[in-house]
Amino acid sequence: MADKLKQIKGGLFIVLEGIDGTGKSTQCQLLYKKLASLGYTVHLDKEPSDKKYGAIVRQSAETGRLSPEQELEYFHLDRKMHVKELIEPAKQAGEIVILDRYYFSTIAYQGQRGFDPEELLKVNESFAPSPDLLIILDLPVEISLKRIGSRGDTANEFEQGDALQYCRDTYLSFSDREYARVISSDQEIGLIHDQITQYVLAKMESAT
Ligand code: TYD
Repeated sequence: MADKLKQIKGGLFIVLEGIDGTGKSTQCQLLYKKLASLGYTVHLDKEPSDKKYGAIVRQSAETGRLSPEQELEYFHLDRKMHVKELIEPAKQAGEIVILDRYYFSTIAYQGQRGFDPEELLKVNESFAPSPDLLIILDLPVEISLKRIGSRGDTANEFEQGDALQYCRDTYLSFSDREYARVISSDQEIGLIHDQITQYVLAKMESAT
């Protein structure tokens, strides 16, 4: 008979955020494998997703077809789909969700593009539940630029640097939330993974 998978009362909703080059996707994969190996049912997804609305925003990033307002609407629709079809059912079933980016990215990136960050937060908190654990992978912008292959010495790259700085500051502005943990991304992948795992296990213990 197959072993019964472990359950967590109320589930566990984990979000990883950080600017480009912080290694979010790698860490999400490592965490997914770790928690699955411990016997939990784990769902891993990202925003924008590859589904209906997320796919439209991803395409638009290449073709530039959507206006900023339309793009924002699609980010929200994509997220509403995640809340209804992924986050809420997993919570009810006592399962784990790992999400690579969530509404903190909307506050950061769409805020950077001129939308009012307070308003964005209000709108998102009205339909999207807060995570149980928000891991902020933090990295100085200069290192991020190097990692993503841009040295920051042309006008365009300066702009990119400013935009990333805005996003980094936005993520850090959430660091005093009770569910938030900040980890420096300027360390070995294995060490970052160990710290994330520790925070997740501590959260699970406090939930039981
Ligand atoms: P993606 O290719 O997933 O980037 P990465 O793999 O580096 O995370 O594209 C995500 C992009 O979408 C990224 O530039 C941030 C942006 N984004 C927003 O602008 N608003 C949002 O609400 C979300 C979730 C992402």
